[in-house]
Amino acid sequence: MKIILIGLGTVGQGFLEVLQKKADILKTEQNLMPQIVAVATGSRGFLADPDGLDIPQLLESIKKGNLSHYPQKDGLDRNFADAIDLIRRVDADLVLELTPTNLQTAEPATSHIQAAIDSKKHVITANKGPIAKHYQKLMQAAKNAKVEIRFEATVMAGTPCIALGRELLAGCEIKEARGIVNGTTNYILSQMENGLDYAAALKQAQDLGYAETDPSADVEGWDAAAKVLIFLAAFFGKEIPLDSLDVTGITGISAEDIHEAKTAGERYKLIATISPKGGSVKPMRLPMDDPLAHVGGATNAISFKTDLMGETTLIGKGAGKHETGFAILADLLALHRKA
Ligand code: HSE
Repeated sequence: MKIILIGLGTVGQGFLEVLQKKADILKTEQNLMPQIVAVATGSRGFLADPDGLDIPQLLESIKKGNLSHYPQKDGLDRNFADAIDLIRRVDADLVLELTPTNLQTAEPATSHIQAAIDSKKHVITANKGPIAKHYQKLMQAAKNAKVEIRFEATVMAGTPCIALGRELLAGCEIKEARGIVNGTTNYILSQMENGLDYAAALKQAQDLGYAETDPSADVEGWDAAAKVLIFLAAFFGKEIPLDSLDVTGITGISAEDIHEAKTAGERYKLIATISPKGGSVKPMRLPMDDPLAHVGGATNAISFKTDLMGETTLIGKGAGKHETGFAILADLLALHRKA
């Protein structure tokens, strides 16, 4: 499987490290030998090699600052106008769109995905913007081009919430789902309960690779809101604009509020709710007998209410470079199984 990688930040590097670690098992157990044939970054250069790029050297060169540190060899091409030019010109089976999310414009990710579809390449993305904003349009275009778009990494990292809701619970009617879908805010709320102040807790979440490039998307609730839109589209085929959701983040919650809740035997959580009618994101004080009250740190959870199964709850890692890298690997394996 020949892969083009667009974006080599935390998620891209995490995926390459996971791929490196799992290369032997993928070959022996899954007969899968993925090859990274090209990389495009926003400001750190381009690389393409039809024989496949060397992963340790890719990681090494990006750690040194940019792809110019990657050793020169015959057949290596560094000259592309932009990522779209690279996607169009490089022969590959699959494009990984791993650039930072822009929830307002969903660009440049949407154009990258569209270029991949136009050149008949499958897409795996960790980028929330295009899926939250253009789900129907992109899925229809992919269907027409006979390629797939997979997006497990967009919500709850490698914890398989999209696969659970879309594939494993297919046949059940999802009546409602309630979840904790932002790792950064859950981590901050947990650390504040442990006595840390807000700024220090946010800094830790950033250092641990949980937060978005612009962390205001996390703390003001917009990252969770984008995930609500992804769930609505993926589970109900419903597409609504981001600003039509009722969204409140955690910036208005003080150490005193958290202490007061604790004294009353309750705990603040940023709760995302979805149903066929719509969704919301709001901080809520949960009683301790609510299972979501015990989901701490960067852990996420989603609880589905369905007609046949009652309540089905999935709890797991919601952010982190290797956790998100695994989500991309899981989608890669799903595509490989279908090939
Ligand atoms: N910033 C996101 C979070 C990353 O904290 O949950 C995973 O989407």
